[in-house]
Amino acid sequence: MSDSEISHTTRQKVFFIVLTPTAVGAGVFLLLNALTPLGALASAFAGLASGAVLALYFASNLYAVIADTENELKGRIDESFSGTIYEKNKLETILRYMTDGTVAVGADGSIIHANESARRILRMTDDDVRRKRYDDIILRFTDDLTLDAILQDLEAGETGGSFSYGGATYDVSFGVFKDSYGDDGGLVIIFRDVTESQKLRDIQADFVANVSHELKTPLTSIKGYAETLLAGGIDDPEMSKDALGIINSEVDRMKRIVNDLLQLSRLDAGRQTWNMKETNVIALVRMAAKKQGVTAGRKRQQLNLFAKDRSFMLTIDRDRIEQVVTNIISNAVKYTREGGRIDVEVVRDEHWLYIIVLDNGIGISELELSRIFERFYTGNKARSGDMSGTGLGLSISKQIVEEHGGNIVIQSELGYGTRVVISLPLEAPAINKNILQE
Ligand SMILES: Nc1ncnc2c1ncn2[C@@H]1O[C@H](COP(=O)(O)OP(=O)(O)OP(=O)(O)O)[C@@H](O)[C@H]1O
Ligand SMILES: [Mg+2]
Repeated sequence: MSDSEISHTTRQKVFFIVLTPTAVGAGVFLLLNALTPLGALASAFAGLASGAVLALYFASNLYAVIADTENELKGRIDESFSGTIYEKNKLETILRYMTDGTVAVGADGSIIHANESARRILRMTDDDVRRKRYDDIILRFTDDLTLDAILQDLEAGETGGSFSYGGATYDVSFGVFKDSYGDDGGLVIIFRDVTESQKLRDIQADFVANVSHELKTPLTSIKGYAETLLAGGIDDPEMSKDALGIINSEVDRMKRIVNDLLQLSRLDAGRQTWNMKETNVIALVRMAAKKQGVTAGRKRQQLNLFAKDRSFMLTIDRDRIEQVVTNIISNAVKYTREGGRIDVEVVRDEHWLYIIVLDNGIGISELELSRIFERFYTGNKARSGDMSGTGLGLSISKQIVEEHGGNIVIQSELGYGTRVVISLPLEAPAINKNILQE
């Protein structure tokens, strides 16, 4: 019987009760009460208890009322049961797809629930979840987050902590959940992987420290020479000339750093304008090598260029690629001793053009090689001494080449030399599509 049928039969009986002459007094009360099957059942018992003539009616209808009531209760239980299942499924799905690890721990320390992320973060097997206590699991990583430790933290008003393991860092938050009696039922502990954001925070902090340091060094020197001039040095023409020369080159250095930083920020924000044009790459490389020839000559180095063709046209941003080639050749010149040799070669295959710069200089250790493209990384100062610059050249070069759809690969052996390969695709890269003309 459907809900509407149940209430329809109920209403008929109520109507009949009211029309029974001896029940007029009780009728009003019973009418109000009997609007639902449960109320009708109560009314039936009330009628029986009153012993009135009405009781005859109620007695005869008691079974029908009980049946109605049973139906309604069954309906309500079914409804609330399927509601509970729906809520349970919903919760399970949320927990399953949550990237945060969530563990519910009973007051006795047993694991009530651990979602998949928690199992992954805490390396829990199904057997662990079934049999192990929470403390057994967490103690494999840290002793700061045991049940007792967390309860103490909560008492002190703290609701979170963190732990690191295997190169990853996790933020942990926790709280007490109540059972159906309103008592403390246990703890919910949530683990969030913050490794990446922590790394970004570290990089940002390093970056600010590096920029400050790189700008502070020339500023200190400028200030020192300016003070010397003010303190009377200005009257000594020789000293004045030296001081002003140094001030001038330090200002140039600061200008270079600021320009590099502005360029990096443009590249990062995708605001770099690309002026893509058909360019003779061989001529570009020859020109860049020639410019470095002066410094190489001063160091009595051999600087050779090898290219089969005189000309090879490629669509690139000429100035930016020249900047890259200049930086790579200038590195080779800078980090190669007097009398050393630098070979620059331009070759190509079916899909790529390669600009290869080979030197027999001081080389780079394996450990340094893994960090060489980091901003401000200048390697081992003891090895490169005064030669090293600000460590922005390679990181900018890499970004420029990647924007052209290519890459830079560096191989090196400490003490023997370095080989840098710049690869550029022969097919025009995607940045052609959104060139912003300068
Ligand atoms: N050919 C090379 N031989 C040996 N070490 C090199 C070579 N090229 C780069 N390096 C190392 O890599 C580091 C990073 O190079 P990068 O060009 O980014 O910075 P830099 O030359 O120090 O400064 P700048 O920002 O002025 O270019 C250098 O400081 C140097 O230690
Ligand atoms: Mg450099």
